[in-house]
Amino acid sequence: MAKKKKLLRSLAGEVLDVPPVWLMRQAGRYLPEYRATRAQAGDFLSLCFNPELAAEVTLQPIRRYGFDGSILFADILLIPQALGADLWFVTGEGPRLSTITEASDMARLKGKDDIHDHLAPIYETVKILAQDLPKDTTLIGFAGAPWTVATYMIAGRGTPDQAPAHRLREAEPETFAALIDLITEATIEYLDMQVKAGAEVVKLFDSWAGSLKGDAFDRFAVAPTKRIISELKSRHPDVPIIAFPREAGDKYIGFAREVGADCLAIDTSVDTSWAVQNLQVDGCVQGNLDPKLMVTGGDALKSEARRICEAFKGGPHIFNLGHGITPDADPENVHHLLEAIRG
Ligand code: CP3
Repeated sequence: MAKKKKLLRSLAGEVLDVPPVWLMRQAGRYLPEYRATRAQAGDFLSLCFNPELAAEVTLQPIRRYGFDGSILFADILLIPQALGADLWFVTGEGPRLSTITEASDMARLKGKDDIHDHLAPIYETVKILAQDLPKDTTLIGFAGAPWTVATYMIAGRGTPDQAPAHRLREAEPETFAALIDLITEATIEYLDMQVKAGAEVVKLFDSWAGSLKGDAFDRFAVAPTKRIISELKSRHPDVPIIAFPREAGDKYIGFAREVGADCLAIDTSVDTSWAVQNLQVDGCVQGNLDPKLMVTGGDALKSEARRICEAFKGGPHIFNLGHGITPDADPENVHHLLEAIRG
């Protein structure tokens, strides 16, 4: 039998001398080869829906750096688009979508089983990657968690405080709950298809979980994530799941256990010794280097990377950033980071 891949060993709870490593947004604008392929595709969305080119940009950071994990190149906003929302990206600004402000906007969306024609190219990308990745690299599929996806669908763009989504949640609780349910159900089918196409791990990005407080966190960050994981586990019991309720603060405690995730990804704000005591006791932790260090580099990058490895070495750990690598990062700093981690 082939030796189990390093990333899968950590996800199974093994404690390794050197943690597996990959970076959020590892395929992206900081790499000149990514910018060239995106130009060849035309724009970001055309790149997402071109399986050959999307597989190519997914493989670029693997060739350059030899990461242990390879995350599918796509976006969390492809689900809203597959459900019938308009989606476009404004260069230098970010995503724009048609908005959801009342029940009649919901009525225009498609059903959870109507997404696959639109998303077929994404499944094709996963199939290509399952073939073409090096045999010791783990293929990670992903989706946005329902709350985070809903914040974009409601506001029609990224918002600093997710105010439009909070307003709809309070003013029109039934419309809001129906939207969360639809995204939850579509996400289950989407991730099911990614796994069938060859994804070995899936990650749920709840980038705006931190803006949900108290009971709302339980209802809209915990519950939908728990429902997705429990359904995926019933269909694919052996596929590990990473949850990322970004900026959840104290709510990180017990989150992985509660939702049934195999690994908890943590953001930059989380203190490592606190995470060891309160989070790693439940299993694998992924994180949490500050992405700014990928821009500034130097000894600070190396010593901070070593400090994080040292802090988490008593339990299962996957090395990653606390959020995505930014376009102004220096590609050479990734080599320096890997040297610091792998020696
Ligand atoms: O390498 C990888 O990480 C895989 C691909 C990936 C992308 N987006 C590609 C992308 C993943 C996993 C995502 C997740 C994603 N997308 C999240 C959750 C993680 C997070 O960052 O909090 C969110 C909130 C989105 C939505 C989104 N997509 C925004 C807000 C933006 C604009 C901001 C930005 O960083 O540009 C995007 C665009 C996007 N998604 C790019 C990439 C490589 C840049 C687009 C470009 O090339 O012009």
